[in-house]
Amino acid sequence: MSDQDRLIIFDTTLRDGEQSPGASMNLAEKLEVAHALKDLGVDVIEAGFPIASPGDFEAVQAIAQQVEGPIICGLARCNPEDIDRAWEALRAASRPRIHVFLATSAIHREFKLRMAKEEIIRRAIEGVERAKSHCEDVEFSPEDASRTELDFLAEVVERAIEAGATTVNIPDTVGYAVPFQYAAVIRHLKQTVRGIDKAVISVHCHNDLGLAVANSLAALKEGARQVECTINGLGERAGNCALEEIVMAVKTRADYFGVQTTISTRRLCPTSRLVSHVTGIQVQRNKAVVGQNAFAHEAGIHQDGMLKERTTYEIMRPEDVGLSKTELVLGKHSGRHALRERIAALGYHLDDVQFQQVFEAFKALADRKKTVYDADIEALAEVQIHEGPALWTLESFHTSAGTATLPMAAVCLAHVDGRKVQDAACGDGPVDAVFTTIERITGIKVELRDYQVRSVTVGEDAQGEARVEIEHNGRVQRGQAVSTDIIEASAQAFLQAINRLAMRRQARLNPQTETVSAV
Ligand code: KIV
Ligand code: ZN
Repeated sequence: MSDQDRLIIFDTTLRDGEQSPGASMNLAEKLEVAHALKDLGVDVIEAGFPIASPGDFEAVQAIAQQVEGPIICGLARCNPEDIDRAWEALRAASRPRIHVFLATSAIHREFKLRMAKEEIIRRAIEGVERAKSHCEDVEFSPEDASRTELDFLAEVVERAIEAGATTVNIPDTVGYAVPFQYAAVIRHLKQTVRGIDKAVISVHCHNDLGLAVANSLAALKEGARQVECTINGLGERAGNCALEEIVMAVKTRADYFGVQTTISTRRLCPTSRLVSHVTGIQVQRNKAVVGQNAFAHEAGIHQDGMLKERTTYEIMRPEDVGLSKTELVLGKHSGRHALRERIAALGYHLDDVQFQQVFEAFKALADRKKTVYDADIEALAEVQIHEGPALWTLESFHTSAGTATLPMAAVCLAHVDGRKVQDAACGDGPVDAVFTTIERITGIKVELRDYQVRSVTVGEDAQGEARVEIEHNGRVQRGQAVSTDIIEASAQAFLQAINRLAMRRQARLNPQTETVSAV
């Protein structure tokens, strides 16, 4: 592939994506996502904004130390403290990049920065030069570029390249651009900036008008060769350009765009599921490429066409984005070998202990459920991968509820030290009663921030997936579980989140167990 055919995929799920309300991740989760991004084949991982918080610093540093292959990038404003801090976090990376940014639009200059154009140029140059004193690979972003006067934008970009920027990123920070206009910005820079060929032109589009992918594609046509994007389109407000969409757009329409990426597209669905799992942000059913309905054909005419010739209504093959072709999978007579093969085909790497747990859960499920679908297997595998060590396990529960009765629950939990503890409580409904009883037994009172139940597949016997988000002393934890009984799934998800809090609490009291708490 020549440089002209090559589209650099810059993933910012862990930086811009993590800025989405409710998408914060802990260190272990960020590392897991970073490893998945590497397996996906992204070129650059923007791992965080090191000066923003000690947690951000620690995450960028850990990713720089542990994730080999992609360029690891850290964000910094154009000031010495930010840039030096970013470098401190990144220095262990074999391929580090510092990304410096400074707003350039009139509105930001006047109201946010209170700086004249000359000062913006001076600071941009100083920022790039300082970053360059630490590392060769430096990216510069004129924030709010799409609302910046074109001539001034061209001047800033030119000076940043002269100062040593190897990538110049043109952000549509507030999602204001539209495709023809954004393409014209890139064209103008290509035509007027001296030395533009010394740097890669990058685009970073927000989705406020639902145009992030369209704007990015329009820019590629004008010669941009790096796209900044996030898994599932996470990001500030309405999010960023969705990685899975831009990658499949240039792959499916290679005839039109003539560029290639190094993304293993079969990893798109598993990576999307992972990010959804760790952030607790569900992917909408009709989301392009990775949504549950993305390949579901409902209309009779479409189904008929598909049966005659797939390409009548399908422009991408589900297996190319990591969705298995087979809908109906295994039954209760299926053995380990078949299950192991199916799990591998779905893109999961389980160790022997995890596989054994999934196998047992699968057998139990096959006894309860007529048809076991791929989505059921995925749900079981995900629960297992993210299962942390448990202080408490659910032994049994009983609930009663109805229109003319007070909802109540009786729960028995087993502690890891062998104790079994039972209790009962009333609630607003059976789920609330179960949660309250679990709080009483474990002695951990929490605030329930979010609770969702969805059906994993179709049919009356479908598994329900419960997700909870709880808060205790300012710390947020999530839990997720599946069962054909939604009250059991809810109880298990709640208990998983409580266990995570309890493990942390125990680790604080007994520091030698600290590593366990990072799960
Ligand atoms: O949206 C934006 O402008 C950004 C920059 C920091 C690149 O995220
Ligand atoms: Zn952004």
